[in-house]
Amino acid sequence: DIRNLHARRVWDSRGRPTVETEITLQGGAVGRAIAPAGASRGSREALDLRDGGKRLGGMDVSRALAAVNTEIGPLLTGRDVRDQQGLDSAMIEQDGTELKSHLGGNALVATSLAAIHAAAAAEGVPLWRYLSRITGRQASIPLPEIQIFGGGAHAGRRVDIQDFMVMVPGANDFAEAIEISSEIHAAAGSLMARQGRRAGVADEGGWWPSFDSNEQALETLIQAIELAGETPGRRVVVSLDIAASEFGNDGQYQLALDQRKMDTGGMIDLLARWIDDYAIASIEDPLAEDDTAGMIEFTRRFGSRLQVIGDDYLVTNAALLNHAAREGACNAVLIKVNQAGTVSESLETMQAAETSGYRCIVSARSGETEDVSIAHMSVGLGAGQLKVGSMTRSERMAKWNEVLRISEDPDAGKFVGGAPLGNAWQQ
Ligand code: PGA
Ligand code: ZN
Repeated sequence: DIRNLHARRVWDSRGRPTVETEITLQGGAVGRAIAPAGASRGSREALDLRDGGKRLGGMDVSRALAAVNTEIGPLLTGRDVRDQQGLDSAMIEQDGTELKSHLGGNALVATSLAAIHAAAAAEGVPLWRYLSRITGRQASIPLPEIQIFGGGAHAGRRVDIQDFMVMVPGANDFAEAIEISSEIHAAAGSLMARQGRRAGVADEGGWWPSFDSNEQALETLIQAIELAGETPGRRVVVSLDIAASEFGNDGQYQLALDQRKMDTGGMIDLLARWIDDYAIASIEDPLAEDDTAGMIEFTRRFGSRLQVIGDDYLVTNAALLNHAAREGACNAVLIKVNQAGTVSESLETMQAAETSGYRCIVSARSGETEDVSIAHMSVGLGAGQLKVGSMTRSERMAKWNEVLRISEDPDAGKFVGGAPLGNAWQQ
């Protein structure tokens, strides 16, 4: 049973305050987790509770810490930590708002994750194994989705697209996928240096996108893959997060970089050209979160050969996913525990995804920490894919390195390469 809950203020990879919850059980086992924070957020995701005002840019979390220490603490103390669903439901009920704005999504996610860590610790097993055990899901080693250039809200909108990534579905194992991605990342860095464009990194550790156009970034990505000795579209494919809600609404898209303005049809045509030219196998949020018709049309045109991921569009919400599945929007869902707010709601969304045949990509946020819970979730829940940013900055590397450790255990299952992305790279 839970003996004590304690929240403390720690700091994330953008140097901002965030919530860490520590749960101690009667038997002495301890579980701890830290809330991440997004920058390009969906309007329907759980809201973080921040203090506002001038201090620390309004980003301090003393109200969220108080929510854990004075409201959630008394609520959960003495309860059975193995009853994750019961703990999460109690917090959701106590919060009582649609977007968790009373207790705060940050308070809830840190506490929900801390509880499952404590439960795993009490059983003396790593979190991934505990998750696989309680859900009955087959563990597997995810295909990593690795950022080479950042952009969008993670790089001062230097380019419009938010993530320029590679995936290596043709790798033999996770370690090889990471190694090949590292070669591509390094190759991209030397290309940038040669062109006088190397200017540090963006929020998720990918190279800062000092490009003159979105296409120039895509060209450079393809060149980097080739410089690393790979053929784009074979072992290695390109994956983009357009994060289109950041520059589109009401069916109008305004690309800042090249001053193009277009409607939904124009946006889809632009993406269609990129898909053909740049070995793209996966696209996230190709259209804005309010553009349902566009999402349906895009999925109808490309869903059979592309992974079409809803992030801001689905916000890890089972009801929104079920609705999208009925309408034919997207064929994959990003799983961000802090979008949903609790572990139980994230599991529910993964279950809904499985029922509807949607693929799952467990994902970090642009504001992260040394917390590696999501590495364990991606493995223990057999999600199939993992997206945590680039090959630099230790809040990113902590997750890749944790999967490397876990993958040494044969019980952690097989590497998910090859087939899960359809046939885009198999020509
Ligand atoms: P965010 O971006 O964490 O800044 O919201 C990540 C993503 O869009 O996938
Ligand atoms: Zn996204």
